Amino acid sequence: MYLVTGATGSLGRRIVRQLREDQESVRAFVRLSAHFGELEDRGAEIFIGDLKIEQDIIKACEGVKYIISSHGGTDAQAIDYRANINLIDRAIANNIEHFVFISVLGVDRGYQDSATFKAKREVEKYLIKSGLNYTILRPSGFANNLIPLAERFRDTGIYFSIGEQQNRSSIVSTDDLARIAIASTKIEAAKNKIFAVGGPDILKREDIPRIFARLFNQEPIVINPPLQLFDGLRFGVGLINPQLNKSLGTLRTLLAHEFFCTRDEITLLESTFNLKLESLESFLRRYVGQ
Ligand SMILES: NC(=O)c1ccc[n+]([C@@H]2O[C@H](COP(=O)([O-])OP(=O)(O)OC[C@H]3O[C@@H](n4cnc5c(N)ncnc54)[C@H](OP(=O)(O)O)[C@@H]3O)[C@@H](O)[C@H]2O)c1
Repeated sequence: MYLVTGATGSLGRRIVRQLREDQESVRAFVRLSAHFGELEDRGAEIFIGDLKIEQDIIKACEGVKYIISSHGGTDAQAIDYRANINLIDRAIANNIEHFVFISVLGVDRGYQDSATFKAKREVEKYLIKSGLNYTILRPSGFANNLIPLAERFRDTGIYFSIGEQQNRSSIVSTDDLARIAIASTKIEAAKNKIFAVGGPDILKREDIPRIFARLFNQEPIVINPPLQLFDGLRFGVGLINPQLNKSLGTLRTLLAHEFFCTRDEITLLESTFNLKLESLESFLRRYVGQ
């Protein structure tokens, strides 16, 4: 039995779907407010709970062999940090076979402005020391994030992007990442390893509207405010709402830096997991292409 947290999220939903396609038994940790009917229809066992409640985590972990932690949230302390620590503690207590943790690319660069990055790094360290079999996946941005942007482009021709357009990323097909997360529990070479996970191409931000242009056969209108504008607005917001200012730190970190995998990291990923990674263009063509 797999336990998947964040099962109604973009990644978790795909992990549950693929596990069910593989006829694996899976318990989907969901909140009552989320849309989980599709997961139930596919044969997942639905566990209703809140990751902020330790008792829910204890109950959800009963009888599971594998845990894939794919949740995330705005409360980094409670969700990205504490919920994962509690899951790892239960995994140890229940002697589970393998724990897969979805971290983030660049987590080890010490970005102090992002509570999420710091939480994920601390969870990584805790997991490595836990004695459990683990795989840590550090993905770049998910391709599904671009679906709403592509849809807006299709309707308006407009592409909006803050900051340096030469910054590079390795946007990963969320379907590939789901496959890699599941395979991590089965492939010996993935045991007790950390993988940077990205798509096959290193893309500059300015490449994205070009991909949209090809998909929808129309010239892009690019709106590109500088990062300083974001910083100014954030400062203004901070005067009224200091908490919101802090929580914008992760977005600021993502906007200000590059998050791409090296060719060697991509080669290692493809050979370890025996797959050919999908390009962003192919992913978008499948989901929103004409
Ligand atoms: N998106 C990216 O580009 C990206 C890049 C690198 C790493 N990551 C990491 O990958 C993981 C998955 O990201 P994602 O984009 O798939 O996330 P997502 O779509 O935002 O989904 C988050 C999931 O966590 C669940 N969740 C949040 N708070 C919860 C709580 N208190 N109790 C129970 N469930 C709770 C949400 O439930 P509800 O549906 O009820 O809200 C949802 O299922 C996260 O750890 C994220 O940090 C994401």
